[in-house]
Amino acid sequence: MLGVRCLLRSVRFCSSAPFPRHKPSAKLSVRDALGAQNTSGERIKVQGWIRSVRSQKEVLFLHVNDGSSLESLQIVADSSLDSRELTFGSSVEIQGQLVKSPSKRQNVELKAEKIKIIGNCDAKAFPIKYKERHPLEYLRQYPHFRCRTNVLGSILRIRSEATAAIHSFFKDSGFIHIHTPIITSNDSEGAGELFQLEPSGKLKVPEENFFNVPAFLTVSGQLHLEVMSGAFTQVFTFGPTFRAENSQSRRHLAEFYMVEAEISFVNSLQDLMQVIEELFKATAMMVLSNCPEDVELCHKFIAPGQKDRLEHMLKNNFLIISYTEAVEILKQASQNFTFTPEWGVNLQTEHEKYLVKHCGNIPVFIINYPLAIKPFYMRDNEDGPQHTVAAVDLLVPGVGELFGGGLREERYHFLEERLARSGLTEVYQWYLDLRRFGSVPHGGFGMGFERYLQCILGVDNIKDVIPFPRIILELWIER
Ligand code: 4AD
Repeated sequence: MLGVRCLLRSVRFCSSAPFPRHKPSAKLSVRDALGAQNTSGERIKVQGWIRSVRSQKEVLFLHVNDGSSLESLQIVADSSLDSRELTFGSSVEIQGQLVKSPSKRQNVELKAEKIKIIGNCDAKAFPIKYKERHPLEYLRQYPHFRCRTNVLGSILRIRSEATAAIHSFFKDSGFIHIHTPIITSNDSEGAGELFQLEPSGKLKVPEENFFNVPAFLTVSGQLHLEVMSGAFTQVFTFGPTFRAENSQSRRHLAEFYMVEAEISFVNSLQDLMQVIEELFKATAMMVLSNCPEDVELCHKFIAPGQKDRLEHMLKNNFLIISYTEAVEILKQASQNFTFTPEWGVNLQTEHEKYLVKHCGNIPVFIINYPLAIKPFYMRDNEDGPQHTVAAVDLLVPGVGELFGGGLREERYHFLEERLARSGLTEVYQWYLDLRRFGSVPHGGFGMGFERYLQCILGVDNIKDVIPFPRIILELWIER
């Protein structure tokens, strides 16, 4: 420690003047500094925000974080330094020597030679408090600051890693990435949960649509992907999706991200389910191995027991039951449901929860739903009086429905009849045309990305796995 102190005598604290004696230091992220192999006193520069300040008799310890890793970099400075401005939350630039740390708590530390305050922070007024573990509900009030906490930092780094894992899964499996439109004139779900767009300017003519056709924010890129699967065979998209459902539940957002895939020459739901299961498992494994510290923090502090629950999901084969079997299971349940389970009616959240539990908390595919409760594009199973379609949903523990998809009706006459019955023939002529010119059996699915993160991390509220949930920003603006 004596050596450290001797060196620290040369520390200078300056607010702007350049440090003349040394050659320019290499700028490193905190993550790279922590992982550096060369700890023989190489001169480096790091920039970030102070996470802790601890003053001892002769030494001042700071921890600086720049968001590149959960762990902060320990800075060792001379205690004679005027540390009044070095407060929790302030932004700093530090130059010094990267050395092996004498403490077991970290491998390396930075012996500061120059510390520059970039932006002050009044720690008393700052809503994020030093050393406090704020509940997620509290942090939701501060969408502009919560990303500077350990927990949101970890969740958002995992989100970034999961995005990359999903892209790499599809790339490695031979899928082509397609940007499907965000402004569109079709409602692919037919469920009427659309946000309609109109110009805000004075030129707006009442009763007139944007470019004379109705324009909506997309609810799904599926129909556009179907077009592309007719050329590229296997395609996917991953982008923002909008639903105007007035549902403020812990698993619904008005703006969320959806991962969608569409595959040509697929004849059975089995083929689709295999891709879904592989996508879920392969990407979850990538996330676990690429950001173990961040995942561990979530599993430890937000969702104790989630590590085991996730392992259970990853090591077991997902189960498959038909919608008809699911309704039978629900009817025989000893539990009283608010919504009585009945064939021909959509499954409710309480039903999904029960089914997953009944299946031993292993994700379960529900297949072959009644034709009447699914959109017009689902492939007719032609199975007599029951009349089901080849639709599939994947239900997962803690979240309920994570994936929705199915085989698409590729037979011209079947689709033509379905569209005619709903009075949609004219609007979907282009979609019908796809069945006239080189139609192939095909199918696909969509996965809610925020629900996927909730499922892997055990985060209860969907608003905590997206950087800016719309509802939060609005509350913030109104304050
Ligand atoms: O089941 P959905 O509505 O399916 C479709 O939109 C299909 N066209 C997708 C396709 O086949 N290409 O939505 C797919 C998934 C759901 O299973 C759910 O995980 C998620 O999107 N989702 C939502 N996530 C957050 N907030 C909402 N309001 C959501 N609505 C659906």
